[in-house]
Amino acid sequence: MEIKKIVKDTNKSLRQVCESVKEPYSKIDLDTCKYLLDYLVFASNDENAEKYNLRPGVGLACPQIGINKRMLAVYIEYPSEDSKESKITKYALINPRLISHSERKAYLLGGEGCLSVDNNHEGYVIRYANITVTGFNILTNKNETIKLRGYEAIVMQHELDHLDGILFYDHIDKKDPFKKIEGALEI
Ligand code: NI
Repeated sequence: MEIKKIVKDTNKSLRQVCESVKEPYSKIDLDTCKYLLDYLVFASNDENAEKYNLRPGVGLACPQIGINKRMLAVYIEYPSEDSKESKITKYALINPRLISHSERKAYLLGGEGCLSVDNNHEGYVIRYANITVTGFNILTNKNETIKLRGYEAIVMQHELDHLDGILFYDHIDKKDPFKKIEGALEI
């Protein structure tokens, strides 16, 4: 697999609003979207990560590989203790869009990280606990409506933000980074 360099947040291109992908989707666009997911799968393998000096991640957005188009991938592997097979949630979406969300908020107690961000940014990244997203899923070749909650909703919102030039630390309350939100889901 040919590895593309991850664009860092020191690069202003990560701050641009990405363009929608035009239909019919070209082979190049479909391949690029597939690459986003392939990268996450590849880097989730310890040997690959070590050999190619890759950081594993649960999500990757197209601008992070230097292409400012509205595409993203999510790959979350849940280790299971009782059986050998682990549960995996994966998406590779073209033109994803958040169409609704809960009032309830959610955040990770350990904060968020990003493959494009090398510095540590501590604090809660306040997001919605439940979301509904639409988009063209290249894994099923269909437009889909996807409901996500909790951790998966947080990961998806992080990646959607990349398409609008937003980085996770933009959401941290600079004056009170660990301010609790009443009723929020803490993970
Ligand atoms: Ni990120």
